[in-house]
Amino acid sequence: MKIVIKKDYVELSKFAALEVKNILEDNPNCTLGLATGSTPLGLYKELIKLYNLGEINFSSVTTFNLDEYRGLNEEDEQSYKYFMNDNLFNHINIDKNNTFIPNGIAEDVERECENYEKLIGEKGGIDLQVLGIGMNGHIGFNEPNQELYLNTHLETLTEETLNSNSIFFTNKEKMPTEALTMGIGSIMKAKKIILLISGKNKAEVVKKLVSGKITTDFPASILQVHNDCTVILDEEAAALLNK
Ligand code: PGA
Repeated sequence: MKIVIKKDYVELSKFAALEVKNILEDNPNCTLGLATGSTPLGLYKELIKLYNLGEINFSSVTTFNLDEYRGLNEEDEQSYKYFMNDNLFNHINIDKNNTFIPNGIAEDVERECENYEKLIGEKGGIDLQVLGIGMNGHIGFNEPNQELYLNTHLETLTEETLNSNSIFFTNKEKMPTEALTMGIGSIMKAKKIILLISGKNKAEVVKKLVSGKITTDFPASILQVHNDCTVILDEEAAALLNK
C-alpha cells in the first residue's frame, strides 16, 4: 500500500483527479469504480473542471458504483444514483447507459446482486476503483463483522454508519437501514485502487488502516495486501501516522 500525503483537501482532490486522468489517457475505454459520500466530492469537482478545459474525455468510459441504499429509487435525492448524476454524470460527456449502480428497489435483491457482479466481469473488471472509508473501517458498505462477503450483496448498516450518514438526510426516519454493496472481493479485484481520506476526524482510522494487521473488524485493512493501492491523505488525516 502506497501512501501519498497532500497539504489539504483541495490538493488531495487534484491529485486523485490526475490519477483518473492518467488511466483514461492510457485506456479511453476503461472501467472506473466510483464512490459516494462527502470525500470524493472534491475529486468529482476537479474532474468536471478538467472536462470543461477539454483535458479529459469520458465518452467511452464505463462506471460501476460501489453501493446503493435499499429502498431508494433514482429520483430520490438521497439515492446514490441521484448523487452521481447530480455531482458528476450530468456535467461530463459520459454515456449514462454506461454508468451502473445497484438497483436499490429491485424486487429480487439476490438476483440484482448476482447480475451486478456478473456485469462487472463482463465489462472486463474495474481498472481503477475510487474508495472512501467509513469511521468503522468500512469500504463500500462492507461493515465490520465476523465474516465479510466476497461479492455484491445486501448489507445491514451499523449504528455508527447510520449516525455518520444521517447528515445527508433531513428526515432521519427515512434513512434506509440496508444497502446493496460490492463485496470485498469485488473491490480487491480492481486492478488499481485509490483510497481518499481527509480530515482530522479520520486520523485514527488511518492509523488502524496501516496497522500491519488484517481483521474483519476493520474491513479496509485487507487493502494492505492489494498490489496497487494508493492511499491519498491530507495532512490532517495523516496527523497520527508514525505516532
Ligand atoms: P465520507 O464517507 O466520505 O462521507 O466520510 C466515507 C464512507 O463512509 O465510506
